Amino acid sequence: MKIGIDKIGFATSQYVLQMDDLAQSRGADPEKFSKGLLLNALSISPITDDIITLGASAADSILTEEDRASIDMVIVATESSVDQSKAAAVYVHSLLGIQPFARSVEMKEACYSATAALDYARLHVDKHPEAKVLVIASDIAKYGAETPGESTQGAGSVAMLITQNPHILELNDNTLAQTRDIMDFWRPNYSTTPYVNGMYSTKQYLDMLKTTWLEYQKRFETSLTDFAAFCFHLPFPKLALKGFNKIMDKSLPAELQEKLQENFENSILYSKQIGNIYTGSLFLGLLSLLENSQNLVAGDQIAFFSYGSGAVAEIFTGKLVEGFQNQLKASRLRELKERIVLSVEEYEKIFFEEAVLDEAGNASFANYKTGPFALKEIREHQRIYGKVND
Ligand code: CAA
Repeated sequence: MKIGIDKIGFATSQYVLQMDDLAQSRGADPEKFSKGLLLNALSISPITDDIITLGASAADSILTEEDRASIDMVIVATESSVDQSKAAAVYVHSLLGIQPFARSVEMKEACYSATAALDYARLHVDKHPEAKVLVIASDIAKYGAETPGESTQGAGSVAMLITQNPHILELNDNTLAQTRDIMDFWRPNYSTTPYVNGMYSTKQYLDMLKTTWLEYQKRFETSLTDFAAFCFHLPFPKLALKGFNKIMDKSLPAELQEKLQENFENSILYSKQIGNIYTGSLFLGLLSLLENSQNLVAGDQIAFFSYGSGAVAEIFTGKLVEGFQNQLKASRLRELKERIVLSVEEYEKIFFEEAVLDEAGNASFANYKTGPFALKEIREHQRIYGKVND
């Protein structure tokens, strides 16, 4: 049975911080960000636009009433969860009006877990061919002001509908994961921002890419010549470029090398304007590739490198299906230009705002701009979400 990504949607916050402004404020050379990290802007979310509102918004942009009536599983993959017990997927299920007889869960392993969610979805549809699974990768990447990771923050969600006979990408059976118990990036329960061994994390990312890709090629008797594009987890696009250069085989025909290079450039266009969105960034790379590449055709194979600190990596692949172009949007880069530009001072206030609860556990918030959904208030320690216009 053919199973894969039938639809893909994306949402990010309505506010943006320009890297040049950050560079000026931090006394850094702007080229360190634009050339050293390949980043131009970061999406900044206010307290009322969290992983749940962004996830619901990404999914709402692709779902029909028929989808909502037939989805039987909702998985939210995240490492910026809002609750240690209740799954973000339960809130999202409710906001989207999905039929009640569905399973809703949250998955975690740093930036990797959406890849595990995709595989779970694929196995579920294999067993229940009429099922539709909604996989949402949703994160707010927050390192803290004036930290080394500050320049790689971001916010956003990618939603994917996994079905049989998909309209975008068929997922292949061949996947290979690797696990290493390392401390490159982690966030203990008591901390709102992660602890990071930044340089070590980049080395681990690149080494897990190299070793997983070598083993993948051996096990599945494949090589770069079988692929039209390679998408990478994008903590910041420059690291993915290093990964791309690592796997590039210089003995390949120049034409194929150029095609792979061009497709790589297209896969990082959105991340350059958004920053890191942790679990979603690999799939944001896919969306950016599909919506901007001019050379992809049905039947093309795409490889994916997923990486989550801690660490788990995986390589998996998929095949573009006939008519995939019809599921995409051409206006995404233009829409990103419509975000409200924040000064560094405003960004520091908005991005790091924490709820101030009264004795009864109530909190209210300023009226920030969000997508169609917002966190409206906290009432007796309960997060109350709703549609913006209700
Ligand atoms: N002009 C042009 N380039 C410049 C420059 C200038 N004036 N000044 C510096 N640069 C370049 C540097 O040469 C360097 O490029 P190369 O790596 O190609 O040499 C680049 O800009 C970055 O500069 P630094 O090496 O000084 O590094 P930094 O202080 O910006 O820190 C980082 C980089 C450690 C990755 C930091 O951003 C960080 O801690 N990030 C968070 C951790 C992270 O993203 N890790 C990635 C792997 S882990 C993962 O993938 C999971 C996840 O999503 C977090």
